[in-house]
Amino acid sequence: MSQVRSSKADARIALSRLFAPIADDLAAVDRRLQQELHNDDPFIDELAQHSFRIGGKRLRPALLLLSAQAVGRITPEHHTLAAVVEMVHTATLVHDDVLDEADVRRHLDTVNARWNNQTSVLLGDYLFTHAFYLASTLDTTFGCRAIGEATNTVCEGELRQTAGSGNFWLSLDEYLRIIEAKTAELCACCCRLGAYYAGGDAMITDRLTAFGRKLGMAFQIVDDLLDLEGEEQTTGKSLGTDLAQHKMTLPLILLREQLSASEASRLQGLYDEQDAGHSGLLLQWLDESGALAQARQTAAEYAQHAIEELSGLRDSDAKRVLAQLARFVVARNA
Ligand code: IPE
Ligand code: IPE
Ligand code: MG
Ligand code: MG
Repeated sequence: MSQVRSSKADARIALSRLFAPIADDLAAVDRRLQQELHNDDPFIDELAQHSFRIGGKRLRPALLLLSAQAVGRITPEHHTLAAVVEMVHTATLVHDDVLDEADVRRHLDTVNARWNNQTSVLLGDYLFTHAFYLASTLDTTFGCRAIGEATNTVCEGELRQTAGSGNFWLSLDEYLRIIEAKTAELCACCCRLGAYYAGGDAMITDRLTAFGRKLGMAFQIVDDLLDLEGEEQTTGKSLGTDLAQHKMTLPLILLREQLSASEASRLQGLYDEQDAGHSGLLLQWLDESGALAQARQTAAEYAQHAIEELSGLRDSDAKRVLAQLARFVVARNA
């Protein structure tokens, strides 16, 4: 237990150290979120506040703010946009927990567990619409349009994942397309907005966008690894949901690819008929075959390619932190 507690604290400490150059701005973004989501109706207020309590890593606002700082200066527009992307992200989580039938998120009961699915659907909608209202208050439409496109792509990714659920033969390409859409796109959008609203030219804005996309790929591959081998007390969210929902993720795909036809059909049997005993067996197989290590290596390669996208930026604390963040995403346990 003390080990679990200390590793949870480690992840928090590591992130708060990394985010030191933007600590004041992140605090301003959190205040903005609280203020925007305050509601005179006590029920709506409780729901909205519940979703934003401690536990969220604030990765997307951080990507946006650090990209801004790496290119120029953080402005009030960046604060607004950082609140918008965190609201969109949180809305996707509230809906995702319904899809995945998850009970815990950000170290608290999920909205579906504490209230019900109807409340989650409506709260997610409320957060999405508030995010777009807030984005529309900016003087230019670039931000609203970019966030609209990215959110649309996230939904497409979730839809494709739902369509592929139960398909043991999901291809590696389709898996990568799904995670790029559902996760990497929003990370890319955050970096794009940070750079653009700091006055970055097209070249630097595109490089930072590519950085965010590759970091996002690494992030989701590790998320999928944590779903298999992580600790719920450390991540603060329900794990094992990918197997329970019959979603193929990278380690399983890599294992499947190295098996003979008869072994693959044994693996498919374990994947099709979930029970508690099977997930232990599956995990052991994934571990012993090297598939878990191979998936982690793939995440590390995405992170390395992300870091290479930063080469055109002048040296700065923000640039160094972005590179460290790419490494953190791979090494994290929460
Ligand atoms: C979880 O994202 C959803 C994924 C895209 C994998 P985070 O792990 O960034 O969630 P919070 O914001 O820290 O709760
Ligand atoms: C993340 O997918 C959800 C979105 C990106 C919308 P997951 O289902 O893998 O994320 P967690 O593991 O529940 O946070
Ligand atoms: Mg989920
Ligand atoms: Mg997951």
